[in-house]
Amino acid sequence: MIDLLDIRYVRLGTRDLVAADHFAREVVGLELARVDAGARYYRSDDRDHTMVYFEGDPGDHTAGFELRDGAALQAAAAALSERGFQVQQGSADAREQRRVHDFVSFRDPTGNRIDLVVRPQHSGRRHFPSRDAGITGFSHIGLCSTDAPRDEAFWCGVLGARVSDRIGDAALLRIDPVHHKVALFPTTRSGIQHVNHQVASIDDVMRGWYLLREKGVKIVFGPGRHPTSGAVFLYFEGPDGMIFEYSTGVRTILPEQEADYRPRQFPAVPSSFCMWGSLPDIPEFRKADA
Ligand SMILES: [Fe+2]
Repeated sequence: MIDLLDIRYVRLGTRDLVAADHFAREVVGLELARVDAGARYYRSDDRDHTMVYFEGDPGDHTAGFELRDGAALQAAAAALSERGFQVQQGSADAREQRRVHDFVSFRDPTGNRIDLVVRPQHSGRRHFPSRDAGITGFSHIGLCSTDAPRDEAFWCGVLGARVSDRIGDAALLRIDPVHHKVALFPTTRSGIQHVNHQVASIDDVMRGWYLLREKGVKIVFGPGRHPTSGAVFLYFEGPDGMIFEYSTGVRTILPEQEADYRPRQFPAVPSSFCMWGSLPDIPEFRKADA
């Protein structure tokens, strides 16, 4: 079984780097770490970077996950190849771009591009955000799924994820004690469906709500609280239709709780996404059944 230690980064293509950069810094509040070969790298915590915007197809998304060491990476590549997945070894240039010692890349059954990386770089510099959004770090992604049961079986059976809860057919998956690091949403396309950053408190969620409204950013869900993870959330729309989320207070399932933990089934209705009554203006949340 492949053992994903944590989610590490997202890489997002865009046709308008200037607008995307403005959004990443002035709206989300990320720190610009560097501009390299036209791509813009953003920090949200102690890691070298957790998000990249590059000039390219706005549908070109990659999510990076960390593995323990080189042996785990080679075993993962072999296991995926055996199952018929096309696994690409990362070139020297691509490793340098990603600031990782080594990586391989493949597409999950829906076609989502996944990097498996080892020894991704941390930064010795303190994270210095562009604005006081209260961000404590990049934490999870929503991922599109064209066949939710198939993709749940792949993520759990091959990549070692565990189901924390389901809303309709949408599985919220953990790879460490955090309730979810990946959520699979039934839809008809591939790609990253939303990008989550954790903030320090509910005050940051509400400050964000007022600030985003003042800036004219489209709020698509919240403020609210997820009955699944217990997190207080706010979702808003960024460049190229990408959904961004701030949330705080996510539940954990500790190693000693794993044996007794049972995923809960929630119906595919708005109250399964928000216990306060907020209604999502997000297609994948309005219809979580496959
Ligand atoms: Fe989320």
